[in-house]
Amino acid sequence: MGVITAKAGLCVVIPCSFTTPDGFIPKRDDFDIIFHINRYKVPSEFLGRVLLLDPDVSQGNCSIMINDLTTSDSGSYQLRVNGFYRGMSDGVTFSSKTILSVKAKISLFHLNRPSLMIPPLTEGQQATLTCTAPGLCSPSPPIITWMWRGKGEMEANITGNTTASFKTENLTAVTQRHSSILTFNSSAKHHDTNLTCKVSYTSDITTEETVTLKVNCDITNGTGTPTISGKSTIKQDESLNLTCTVDSFPLSVIIWSKRGLNKTLNNETKYGTSTLVIHNVTKQHSGQYFCYANHLNKTLEQDINITVISKYAIFLGYYMNL
Ligand SMILES: *[C@@H]1O[C@H](CO)[C@@H](O)[C@H](O)[C@H]1NC(C)=O
Ligand SMILES: *[C@@H]1O[C@H](CO)[C@@H](O)[C@H](O)[C@H]1NC(C)=O
Ligand SMILES: *[C@@H]1O[C@H](CO)[C@@H](O)[C@H](O)[C@H]1NC(C)=O
Ligand SMILES: *[C@@H]1O[C@H](CO)[C@@H](O)[C@H](O)[C@H]1NC(C)=O
Ligand SMILES: *[C@@H]1O[C@H](CO)[C@@H](O)[C@H](O)[C@H]1NC(C)=O
Ligand SMILES: *[C@@H]1O[C@H](CO)[C@@H](O)[C@H](O)[C@H]1NC(C)=O
Ligand SMILES: *[C@@H]1O[C@H](CO)[C@@H](O)[C@H](O)[C@H]1NC(C)=O
Ligand SMILES: *[C@@H]1O[C@H](CO)[C@@H](O)[C@H](O)[C@H]1NC(C)=O
Ligand SMILES: *[C@@H]1O[C@H](CO)[C@@H](O)[C@H](O)[C@H]1NC(C)=O
Ligand SMILES: *[C@@H]1O[C@H](CO)[C@@H](O)[C@H](O)[C@H]1NC(C)=O
Ligand SMILES: *[C@@H]1O[C@H](CO)[C@@H](O)[C@H](O)[C@H]1NC(C)=O
Ligand SMILES: *[C@@H]1O[C@H](CO)[C@@H](O)[C@H](O)[C@H]1NC(C)=O
Repeated sequence: MGVITAKAGLCVVIPCSFTTPDGFIPKRDDFDIIFHINRYKVPSEFLGRVLLLDPDVSQGNCSIMINDLTTSDSGSYQLRVNGFYRGMSDGVTFSSKTILSVKAKISLFHLNRPSLMIPPLTEGQQATLTCTAPGLCSPSPPIITWMWRGKGEMEANITGNTTASFKTENLTAVTQRHSSILTFNSSAKHHDTNLTCKVSYTSDITTEETVTLKVNCDITNGTGTPTISGKSTIKQDESLNLTCTVDSFPLSVIIWSKRGLNKTLNNETKYGTSTLVIHNVTKQHSGQYFCYANHLNKTLEQDINITVISKYAIFLGYYMNL
């Protein structure tokens, strides 16, 4: 007893098993029939669409697969076993039922999405990405295409130094897994771009999955220079407020320090961006401040020269100009 929901155009496996008394000999011939309680004369619609997964019925496995589902396949399915028992023709109708519900409309929201396997990507290294089509029993192999959308670009098919290969694995006699394997050399330009794998069973049954690629970059090749923002001239008793930001993937560890100071200025570990705030600054806070970005064992630095001026400087200047 159970309810199975499936999508029109694809296929479904109805799991089933049974036991019969010792000495009961099932008749092979009767096993291809499906009993559909709303329609007694079933076979013509189901002919060629139904497969018994384990042809050896003596194992008690009566799982079936129905291909090319249509909404009229919805209904209640039940098993009857005919055979011989103690020399007599006999049969058992099993009371457990499987309710099949076939949904008419196939859309991105109803069809399962492909699964995408993306390994960690590193700039300059070859990457192998796998897109596996959902559904294990599509009537014919789907078409799998890859699309890539760069920053501010239109969606385009993957071109350039890439190769995609189609792979089919036989899982059982009737179920297959279809996948496409894309190989390309990842570069910094792929970072934060969207890669889409589209699986088309027929022109109107398609499903796709999109991932945003993250490429481990090498910050020392110019992509990840730290930038410092904030005022470099500060009046006494006001606040020093500097922010250091490094655009990298994965995020860099940001550390603040000052020339002549044998320690870091920030207490906690900050990733990607770190703000240094010192309240009520004095002249002693003047000096050269450093922001260090630590990324995959490489370090980049940026500095800023801070000048703390007297809060009376403007007032004094006024007198001096007299
Ligand atoms: C019946 O056979 C199918 C196909 O070989 C298999 O996938 C399924 O697990 C089997 N079911 C049982 C209950 O053994
Ligand atoms: C990808 O880069 C590797 C070296 O990292 C190189 O050997 C290979 O030829 C490149 N592949 C393509 C398709 O450019
Ligand atoms: C990638 O997809 C995400 C989510 O759909 C979207 O917010 C982002 O703008 C896309 N990026 C590009 C470069 O198209
Ligand atoms: C991608 O390639 C497919 C098949 O080669 C083609 O039908 C489709 O129009 C292409 N799409 C783009 C955006 O170039
Ligand atoms: C393709 O790879 C070759 C070497 O493998 C390289 O010379 C060429 O620039 C690459 N083309 C693109 C578009 O990346
Ligand atoms: C998978 O099965 C099909 C027929 O069902 C056969 O033609 C094909 O060679 C099989 N592939 C593998 C890898 O076994
Ligand atoms: C530091 O400057 C940033 C940006 O100007 C501001 O959002 C933040 O509130 C400032 N912090 C302090 C403690 O003044
Ligand atoms: C920094 O301080 C540590 C211990 O506090 C000391 O071992 C080290 O020699 C100092 N380095 C410099 C350059 O003063
Ligand atoms: C540094 O961290 C310690 C303990 O985590 C905390 O007690 C202290 O207040 C922190 N100092 C600053 C300047 O944030
Ligand atoms: C800064 O100075 C003001 C008054 O001069 C004082 O009220 C405040 O507590 C000081 N702030 C800090 C963080 O020392
Ligand atoms: C960082 O350096 C350590 C020790 O030298 C090494 O084990 C580790 O693999 C390096 N990590 C990266 C990302 O290069
Ligand atoms: C800060 O001053 C030092 C010398 O005092 C100089 O070497 C450095 O380039 C200056 N930094 C900036 C960002 O101007």
